[in-house]
Order: sequence, then structure tokens, then C-alpha cells
Amino acid sequence: MNIKITGTGSCLPDNVVTNFDMAKIVETSDEWIRERTGIAERRISTGETVASLAAKACERALEMAGKSASEVDLIIVGTCSPELLLPCAACQVQASIGADKAVAFDLSAACSGFLFALNTAYSYIAAGIYKNALIVGSEVLSKLMDWSDRSTCVLFGDGAGAAFVEADELANDGKSGIISMVQGSDGAKGMVLSCGQRQVANPYIKENNLPYNNEEYMFSPYIKMNGQEVYKFATRQVPNCIKEALDKAQLTVEDIDLFVLHQANVRIIEAAAKRLKADISKFPMNLDRIGNMSSATIPVLLDELNRAGKIHKGDKLVLSGFGAGLTYGASVIVW
Ligand code: UT7
Repeated sequence: MNIKITGTGSCLPDNVVTNFDMAKIVETSDEWIRERTGIAERRISTGETVASLAAKACERALEMAGKSASEVDLIIVGTCSPELLLPCAACQVQASIGADKAVAFDLSAACSGFLFALNTAYSYIAAGIYKNALIVGSEVLSKLMDWSDRSTCVLFGDGAGAAFVEADELANDGKSGIISMVQGSDGAKGMVLSCGQRQVANPYIKENNLPYNNEEYMFSPYIKMNGQEVYKFATRQVPNCIKEALDKAQLTVEDIDLFVLHQANVRIIEAAAKRLKADISKFPMNLDRIGNMSSATIPVLLDELNRAGKIHKGDKLVLSGFGAGLTYGASVIVW
């Protein structure tokens, strides 16, 4: 038993914020942002939430799949920016779309969130536990930004993407569905990309005994990033895990039709293509228009490609992400 993606959907806030708009807020320029990242504009929420964007993306994915919400077995939302700690965003989505019989939970793996959610849904379905799943990457990162920190606030955007996956009983030949997956985490380097919640606080804590009072941990309620360390990690780990996933699938770079990579920085994607000795035209990009939306980048790009008719039945795709945790992964799928 394997899975097939039968529907995709996405939803972005309407509000477009250009690099020129960013230059009115922090000391930056269109030239700097484009040269270092490839980003020209991003979408920023004017009230949309992780749950509302995710619900809309799910409805669009279900519509494409020709399914109703009441048929959904499982909803997994990959997110690192939910509005609420409780209840989780996936339960809010479940209520919003009316997926009464689904089990719903969030998965926290930052920019690898959608990929890890896909692999989790695949594992449930392959084990025969569920027959289908809505998997989602949804973020409103704008609320985690320090809007006075030019080194982070220019990079990120808000949005959501979803995919509906179903059990494919015929796909047991190892030639369709998910062919291989590689996932990894490097928690020891985790604090190079961090965002604090609330620290331990109770009547028994002594002031000087707070777990995150050390500068090394960069504890902050906003996203803090050592960009160069994340860059080094991504340019090494992304091609490595793609190679490993290809080896497992007994495929080569030439066999792959599209590399759908996490959209963080055009230079990271170009470096990955170079290290894999792959044609850059096989690496579609949309980060110029929407920036880095963490877990939402891969499903939004997938939906754009799908709706534009750029993915055909039988195409071989590599999905690969990396991000806070640090986490990384790659999956080879046959559409
Ligand atoms: O989903 C995963 C999320 N994270 C990533 O993917 C991040 C990976 N890292 C990167 O993409 C890059 O490291 C950045 C785009 C974040 C930064 O590019 P960089 O080439 O590594 O620049 P830098 O951090 O070395 O900074 C170079 C200069 C510094 O000035 P000085 O010290 O040389 O005078 C920064 O202060 O650029 C300055 N700078 C800016 N200047 C104009 C930093 N941000 C900005 C800005 N506008 N927005």
C-alpha cells in the first residue's frame, strides 16, 4: 500500500509587502534583499491566522480531490506559529471545515513541517490505520518577527498550503507514491534558529536559575537567527539528504523531473543544484513573490505547479526541506 496526492490547495493573505515597503520600516534596500535572498515581495497577514489560512487551503485541496470534509480521516498541520497553544491549529481546522470524524494534531518541525507531516501520514496509511489525510503547512510568521531586526524580518512571509493524500492500494510495486524518505534532526545546533515561548515560571523558580538566561541560547519571543550558520547547514545537508533519498530509491539526479525545495533563499537552492550536478531549471521557485513561509513553502509551490499543469502523472519529484530544530529531510515521490 502506498499513497497518492489527489488534491492540493493553498491560501495566501492578500496584503503584498514589497522590498521597498520593507525599506520604509528598517534600514535595508530592494537591492540587498534581492541579491542575498532572491525575495522581492512577501504576503503579510492583516488578520488571517494559521488556522484560517490552513482551513481555506484544505477546502481547496478537498475540492480538487472531489472529497467532502466528512470523509477525512486525519489532519496534520505542520506549523511553528500557531496563534494558540491550546487547542492545536489542526483541531481548529477540523472544526472550521467540518471534518467531524478526523483525528487532528499539529506537528512541530518548522520548515520541515510539511515534509514530516507527509511522511507521518504516509506511515499511518501504509500501516492500514487511516485511508486518507489532509496534510498542511501553515504559518503566520509575521507575529514572530522582530520588525526592527532587518536580518530576519525581510526574509519571511505568511501563507498556507495543503495536500490531500489517499491510500493507493494498487501502488504496492515500489514505483509509485512515496518511494523513499530521509529525515534528520540536529538538536545540538538548534539554537542557531530559535524563538522563545514562555519560560518556566512558578513560585519555586529562583531568578538566577532560569533555564534560558544564558546569552548563548538567545532566548527571545521573536525569531533569532544566526543566518550564516543556517546557510552552511542548509547548503551541506539539503544535497546530502537528497542524495541519500535518491540512493534509497535507486534513482539518479537525472531521473528526477522536479526538485521541490523549501523556499528560503535562491542561493541555497542554486548551491544544492550545483552540488547535485542537477539542471537548475528542474528547481522551480516562487520565493521572489512570497518569501520564506517555513512549513508552507513546499505545499504552496506544489499547489502552484499542480494547478499550472506542470506536474504530470508518473513524474518523479524530490521534496526537500530544512529548518529550525535543526531539522531536514527529503522524500522521493512518483506523482
Ligand atoms: O527556513 C530557514 C530559514 N533561514 C535561512 O534559510 C537563512 C539562511 N541564511 C541566509 O539566507 C543568509 O545568511 C541571510 C540572507 C540571512 C544573510 O545573508 P548573508 O550574506 O549571510 O549576510 P550577513 O548576515 O553576512 O550580513 C552581511 C551584512 C551585515 O553587515 P556588515 O556586518 O557586513 O556591515 C549585515 O548587518 O548585511 C547586513 N544586513 C543587511 N543589510 C541590508 C543584514 N540584513 C540586512 C538587510 N538589509 N536586510
